[in-house]
Amino acid sequence: MDLDQLAALRTPEGSAALTAAAGLAGGDPLAAASALRAAGVPPTLAAAALTQAELRHRAVGKFGSAAAGMFLTRPGLEQATRRVVADRRAARLSAAGVRTLADLGCGLGADALAAARAGIRVYGVEADPVTAAMAAANAEAAGLAELFTVECGDATGFDVSGVDGVFCDPARRASGTGRRIFDPRAYSPPWDFVTGLAERVPRTVVKVAPGLDHALIPAGAEAEWVGVDGDLVEAALWCGELAEVPRRATVYRQRGAETHSHQLTGSGATEAPVGPVRGYLYDPDPAVVRAHLVAELATELDATLGDPSIAYLYADAPIHTPYARCLEITDVLPFSLKRLRALLRDRRVGRVEILKRGSALTPEQLRRDLRLAGDEAASLALTRVDGAPTVLIGRPVH
Ligand SMILES: C[S@@+](CC[C@H](N)C(=O)[O-])C[C@H]1O[C@@H](n2cnc3c(N)ncnc32)[C@H](O)[C@@H]1O
Repeated sequence: MDLDQLAALRTPEGSAALTAAAGLAGGDPLAAASALRAAGVPPTLAAAALTQAELRHRAVGKFGSAAAGMFLTRPGLEQATRRVVADRRAARLSAAGVRTLADLGCGLGADALAAARAGIRVYGVEADPVTAAMAAANAEAAGLAELFTVECGDATGFDVSGVDGVFCDPARRASGTGRRIFDPRAYSPPWDFVTGLAERVPRTVVKVAPGLDHALIPAGAEAEWVGVDGDLVEAALWCGELAEVPRRATVYRQRGAETHSHQLTGSGATEAPVGPVRGYLYDPDPAVVRAHLVAELATELDATLGDPSIAYLYADAPIHTPYARCLEITDVLPFSLKRLRALLRDRRVGRVEILKRGSALTPEQLRRDLRLAGDEAASLALTRVDGAPTVLIGRPVH
């Protein structure tokens, strides 16, 4: 997509093409293209409208119904923050007194739009001209063009002296190849610039990939890991006045039509106690594990680790928690394929879910090797207990 194609999509003719394309998204792309052409839409406009319709369709999971009016690029959508996460971050910034915010590398504007919805005046800077134009179009489509404006340029040259907060979500994909960048030092804007922002603006938040090495967390910053329904989606560094605790795990859980957020906080430096395997196994959410808050969760659950290096917790009681999955354990066996296969055969187990921590076994291979038969279901956890390869058999506690 180039700037001319985007401009064409924003004309009345383009808007009609987008509406027609929306009804065709998710189906056969060739049939959709012929249907648009048969309706008199010029081929280039039809192609651009279909691409947008396809991306909007995919974006519903991140942005809900607002996706229907947004302009998107594939890499922009992949890197954009989910609406629930962006809204909560914006609410926290607003509660901390941020009224004006620079979003340095604003992409398609998912975070900036959330801040604007929270009443914050946002100055977005985006290096890529098409992405910048789309962000501006997204602000207009959301009725937020007065609160969120976008300038196309290099964020490193933006004068941050006039704002009371800065947000930066550096690009974690190589421009050109689109490949994921794992080393923050290769981010754009560059890592030194990003971490240096906190020294210039006391209320700075930086979004980073959840694989962030703890050694790169700036001194005094709060590091937050975010999980959505069991998936680890991002980490954020809250710097200066915004840091409230050393570590935080924010876990979002969907219940019916609503999403609830839960927060576990702590030092991230405490070791959980070690003890025997007990009646219930807790498998902590990846956000809790990455935030190094397993010890804090152990305290909440009155639980212990079975092995000091493995983040499975064991307790005597099932406690409802948003921070972990819970299994009631029926059997604990030293790992032996033969014994496990015989036991599952005896119990007529035909379906297993396989969890693992601290085991080199591949669940798919094990499932094949077990040659299951029967109508019953079971959960298996492959792990080590006190250093020994062990399999726990159980069932989920809901
Ligand atoms: C991860 S995306 C931002 C996503 C955004 N927070 C959202 O949720 O929609 C990072 C963006 O920064 C832009 N970028 C990278 N380096 C930049 C620079 N030096 N100046 C301005 N923008 C930059 C990229 O083009 C990309 O669109």
